[in-house]
Amino acid sequence: MKRLIPLLLLLAAGCASRGGWTAAERAVIGQKDSVMYVCTMPGDSAILRAQSVDLGPRELRSPELQTLLAKMLCTVTDPSQDGVGIAAPQVGLNRRIVCVLRYDKPGEPFEAFLNIQIDSLIGEKTSGPEGCLSLPGLRGIVPRHRAVQISYLTPEGEPVTERVEGYTAIIFQHECDHLDGILYTDRADSVWHQ
Ligand code: NI
Repeated sequence: MKRLIPLLLLLAAGCASRGGWTAAERAVIGQKDSVMYVCTMPGDSAILRAQSVDLGPRELRSPELQTLLAKMLCTVTDPSQDGVGIAAPQVGLNRRIVCVLRYDKPGEPFEAFLNIQIDSLIGEKTSGPEGCLSLPGLRGIVPRHRAVQISYLTPEGEPVTERVEGYTAIIFQHECDHLDGILYTDRADSVWHQ
């Protein structure tokens, strides 16, 4: 019975951390700069190749999430990066969050998508050029479907299912691949150094 006490304490500690950000995640989100460190291959392959998981109810309503989304936006739009999309693993978090430049919407806003999944890949594949913030100096030609159906939560927590077409659909395929540890070079017809 005596041995049970520390075991129960350990179990209680485990429960307390379940459903919230880990200490490591809080450290990444709380870093001083609003332009975050961007993970690159091959040094950060442990994060970039890992499967990302959904945000739970506690993370979804946390102030840290809004801080993270603002920082991801600052990072992808920074002149040093100048991306059209970014996924949470690229800033060191294996969570299902992407930011995408919505070329298909008026004003072309950058928007955040939480717990996103691709429900279906639609239409023929066509190949086009891609690059990635995590593979600096590389470009490739990648076959992608012309449309996707996606499901996600907005930053306000509203569930949405929508069909996206054209170049924006390609960005979603690239960014959602990151959440499954897949890089465009895995799918590319050809890759070259810029
Ligand atoms: Ni990328």
